[in-house]
Amino acid sequence: NREARRTYNSQMETCSCLLPCTAALLNIHTANSALANVPKHIEHFSKFSPSPLSMKQFLDFGSTNACEKTSFVFLRQELPVRLSNIMKEINLLPDRLRTTPSVQMVQSWYVQSLMELLEFLEKSPEDHGVLAEFVETLVNIRNRHNDVVPTMAQGVIEYKEAFGQDPLTNQNIQYFMDRFYMSRISIRMLINQHTLVFDGATNPLHPNTIGSIDPHCHVTEVVKDAFESAKMLCDQYYLSSPDLLLQELNSENQSISIVYVPSHLYHMLFELFKNAMRATIENHNEGANLPPIEVMVAIGGEDLSIKMSDRGGGVPFRKIENLFSYMYSTAPTPQLSQEHRTPLAGFGYGLPISRLYAKYFQGDLQLYSMEGYGTDAVIHLKALSTDSVERLPVYNKTALRNYTVSQGADDWCVPSKEPLDLAVFRLAK
Ligand SMILES: Nc1ncnc2c1ncn2[C@@H]1O[C@H](COP(=O)(O)OP(=O)(O)OP(=O)(O)O)[C@@H](O)[C@H]1O
Ligand SMILES: [Mg+2]
Repeated sequence: NREARRTYNSQMETCSCLLPCTAALLNIHTANSALANVPKHIEHFSKFSPSPLSMKQFLDFGSTNACEKTSFVFLRQELPVRLSNIMKEINLLPDRLRTTPSVQMVQSWYVQSLMELLEFLEKSPEDHGVLAEFVETLVNIRNRHNDVVPTMAQGVIEYKEAFGQDPLTNQNIQYFMDRFYMSRISIRMLINQHTLVFDGATNPLHPNTIGSIDPHCHVTEVVKDAFESAKMLCDQYYLSSPDLLLQELNSENQSISIVYVPSHLYHMLFELFKNAMRATIENHNEGANLPPIEVMVAIGGEDLSIKMSDRGGGVPFRKIENLFSYMYSTAPTPQLSQEHRTPLAGFGYGLPISRLYAKYFQGDLQLYSMEGYGTDAVIHLKALSTDSVERLPVYNKTALRNYTVSQGADDWCVPSKEPLDLAVFRLAK
């Protein structure tokens, strides 16, 4: 309880006696009782389903008739709902993972942020001071949760080192992480929209964006930006990089644009470019001509698709699903500290997180690989903003059941490793 702590600290400063005065003790007591009530609040808010917003609703919240009060009243309910829904699922993780120091730390951030938001339930939306304080709180929450992904990844590494990997835990962790990170993407989206729209300033570089949404997001521009950044890393690390061949397919003769969050699109493309470049370089001899990375952007009545093709030697079909796993990655375990990080391969979360960004507004990301040749990575997004609606996890009985499934026997035969001894079938003469 920030407020209580602040009051406590200020009272300690003014109090001349060595023992904390009664008022300060009372405040500590309030903070502790707020903490003690957290499970009750999680229980309460997790009973509500999150409310997915459409691109259109996001735009309305942030357009000319934007109403900060409406947004405030919506968020002070919706954020606790989204936080509590996913906090229920953190509690369902295997104990041995949930109790790692990393996961415990992440959990404590969630508790702290929930408590800070709950303080606004009783406050008046008519009070400008309250609205300003709310924005400040949201910014603090966003900063507090900056390192959730590497910290969770650290938790998985700690778990793997202590207990190894098994298919059941992998399935469990995969299910959880996809939902957990999706929830995080959505919470950050809500926070970003509110803080960007109501901070009173327009973005000087992109005056037409509404919060983080560009109503005319030119896809090829983002492709070029992401390519350039990946190229810079690649040149730095490998001293060369493949070129880009970009093609736009459009029935009308104008640049393809959609209503989208450019930073999300950039994130996905940057990850795909890094992978494509690394594969291309590692699959070709030094000094040899590197085949270019080809990108095709197409739009139809329903889909906007982006295909990135490399000639980096591909991946065996059997391994494709593992590339999206939070438990398996071919890259060596990265160091948390920045300076030791290899730029083109990290935690192995590039693909799974990019797929979540694609899925967040009802799209998808898929890999089609031909081992021995190369890989096509395809991002499918919705072409129409009316189809772009948030895809959010909800905590319910079905979710609960998914955490308690046990591995049954396979209902497909397992081929025997020993050659079958046909002699036993021979008829006695
Ligand atoms: N285009 C590609 N061609 C060949 N292999 C690929 C390609 N894209 C991905 N891979 C394989 O999939 C693995 C997982 O990719 P992913 O981007 O998720 O993680 P990473 O690149 O290892 O680490 P980072 O978190 O930095 O992205 C890669 O390590 C690589 O072995
Ligand atoms: Mg990668």
